[in-house]
Amino acid sequence: MHCTRNVTEDLIWIGGNDRQHALFESAHPVPRGVSFNSYLLLDEKTVLFDTVDRSIQSQFFENLDHALNGRKLDYIFVHHMEPDHAATLGDTMLRHPEATLVCNGKIVNLIRQFHCVDPKGAHLVNEGDTICTGKHTFTFINAPMVHWPEVMVSYDSTDKILFSADAFGTFGALNGALFADEVDFEGKWLDEARRYYTNIVGKYGPQVQALLNKASKLDIQMICPLHGPVWRKNLGYIIEKHIKWATYEPEVQGVLIAYASVYGGTENAANILACKLAEQGIPVDMYDVSITHPSYVLSEAFKYSHLVFASTTYNNGIFVTMENLLRDIAHHSLKNRKVAFIQNGSWAPSSGKLMTEIINSMKDMEILEAPVTLKSTLAPGQEEELETLSKILAASVQGKTVEHGEAPVAHKGFVCKICGFIYEGDTLPEDYVCPICRRPASDFEPLS
Ligand code: FEO
Repeated sequence: MHCTRNVTEDLIWIGGNDRQHALFESAHPVPRGVSFNSYLLLDEKTVLFDTVDRSIQSQFFENLDHALNGRKLDYIFVHHMEPDHAATLGDTMLRHPEATLVCNGKIVNLIRQFHCVDPKGAHLVNEGDTICTGKHTFTFINAPMVHWPEVMVSYDSTDKILFSADAFGTFGALNGALFADEVDFEGKWLDEARRYYTNIVGKYGPQVQALLNKASKLDIQMICPLHGPVWRKNLGYIIEKHIKWATYEPEVQGVLIAYASVYGGTENAANILACKLAEQGIPVDMYDVSITHPSYVLSEAFKYSHLVFASTTYNNGIFVTMENLLRDIAHHSLKNRKVAFIQNGSWAPSSGKLMTEIINSMKDMEILEAPVTLKSTLAPGQEEELETLSKILAASVQGKTVEHGEAPVAHKGFVCKICGFIYEGDTLPEDYVCPICRRPASDFEPLS
């Protein structure tokens, strides 16, 4: 049985929802499911706007048949070739050989790659080209890398609707409500919209800004994305959010603490730091990165202005879940954040130096202070170091002059090249033997 909703008098949502798959793109948990939106316009000509993921193809074809109600399909506008929208394009073309594909040259190439067919007779469009379907006139606008290079969007100048492809999308199945104004978006959807944006297109902020710039020149009264609710009211709200995300501006002046702790010492220090920040009125959020999927923590890193990463040392490196998170954040090109670290290592703490290297490889990231170093647990008297770090963070969050603690003293000593054990001192005795791996002094090198 069909399951559709009218968007306008002559535009029908004919997509569907997937609540069965645990992961989107085999990477991101979607505990609230995800919608794959497709729309059908019943003008003098009929137009299908994208198809759907394979997971909901049965529902989609029932919806399409019902909405067409015996009419032929004149056009298929293909905005994006990622299979969550185009997996059923091949079957749609077989069912409707009368339809003309409307797309750009890059899309044709991807149709050949994904469907192994040459879409003969496709109507190729370039930036600014228009198609009139009767009452409606559509203009095509390129949106490369939002989120693949072939992406374009289209604008209906009659009803002032932007068909925005992945832009303005969100994770989360549509539970009957099609429009953003039918749900508590701020309370129940915004976090998932941010997680969708940051993980899927967060890397492509400049390209999203380019699309937002083009869109700002249009009179847009409605946004029809390929995932999540349709926007017909309060468009400024979601556009403002996207401007912030695309320009890497934090939404909250506060501190995100992400920690990786094996036996609790690092977690304890992170908790103490959180308490000290909260006592100074600073908003704080915390995640154990071994428990919370990195897609959530990445999203929170886009939200907060200040980031603290606390990690134990593991195999002479950063703990695996923290390293995964940090590399994910670096790959998503987050910018413009202030960062601090807590490192732990019972005999050779090195995670701070390695986390610093990852953050230093990113653009416009400021490291506020040398890492606080734990050896197994916070030692008596070390609470002061967390107190100092909390004051530095709080001052920075509040936009005050950051009063740094004492400049970090460079450790003098030698590190075992085999196991990472650090010998502290100016000179290493010639007959010294590493207490951990029993290697001789010749396997040590000076600390850099
Ligand atoms: Fe929803 Fe880039 O596909």
